[in-house]
Amino acid sequence: MTPYRDYIVKLKSEVIENYSVEEKIWQGATSTVYKCINKYGKGKHGSIVAIKVLHPYRKDPLQIKMFIREGRIQQKLSHENIVRTFSVGKTEDFYFILMEYIRGSNLKVFSQNGIPPFRQLLEMFRDLAYTLSYMHGRKILHNDIKPENIMFDQAAKSLKLTDFGYASTFQKWFNRKFPAGGTEKYMAPERKTGISDTRSDIYSFGMVLDEFLPQNERDEIISSIIHKAIQREPHKRYASFSEMISDMKYYFYNKP
Ligand SMILES: Nc1ncnc2c1ncn2[C@@H]1O[C@H](COP(=O)(O)OP(=O)(O)OP(=O)(O)O)[C@@H](O)[C@H]1O
Ligand SMILES: [Mg+2]
Repeated sequence: MTPYRDYIVKLKSEVIENYSVEEKIWQGATSTVYKCINKYGKGKHGSIVAIKVLHPYRKDPLQIKMFIREGRIQQKLSHENIVRTFSVGKTEDFYFILMEYIRGSNLKVFSQNGIPPFRQLLEMFRDLAYTLSYMHGRKILHNDIKPENIMFDQAAKSLKLTDFGYASTFQKWFNRKFPAGGTEKYMAPERKTGISDTRSDIYSFGMVLDEFLPQNERDEIISSIIHKAIQREPHKRYASFSEMISDMKYYFYNKP
């Protein structure tokens, strides 16, 4: 097992696809995200990228498998509201996911400095609903929608979905080879029994809306959208994001 300090020293001296570590953005339980810079000028992805590194002492084959899977799934998705993944790879010492660097912060941090006006917020969430509809159209579930996994891109003034660590294709989830994971508060109740489908993502998304759209500014349309999304029983929820989007559009139609 490599002591953590040694690993950081090693990482700092390492050049990954021409990028070298500039600063740590965030440290998690299984991985760390770094801001990296291309010291040789502009690389093919621009001069700054973000690199997520699996902690090298995480030698568990299942964890490695999940990490590579996460990168590959994210790499397959090409959407302006999904953090772009350029490559998934391995150096001598660790596995990494190389991504576009988002100037901004995740929604949890972002909201600590006050939230945008209701309508702007709702427009951003509507775009995110389209993004999830795109993903589901490609038969991919996110399975871990929560504020920490949604980034606010300051330059684009839009939300970008990230962290595909628990993502799965429609059929493959919960053959019990992968741990259930996720955060309790946003997790659809049925996921604990081993079932997960498009409606489970709708539940988590609904929980995020419920947290971020101030109660006192909601009209009946918005209240009923949230109410329907966070029903405990899946069959009472929206069946798809396109259904949910139609109702969201109805709000904008009524409030031009
Ligand atoms: N491409 C990026 N650009 C800028 N910041 C990022 C990027 N990717 C992630 N981050 C920051 O790092 C945080 C954690 O990233 P992520 O959610 O992918 O890790 P995680 O899978 O939750 O980590 P772990 O499972 O190890 O706890 C994000 O909330 C965000 O603040
Ligand atoms: Mg995360």
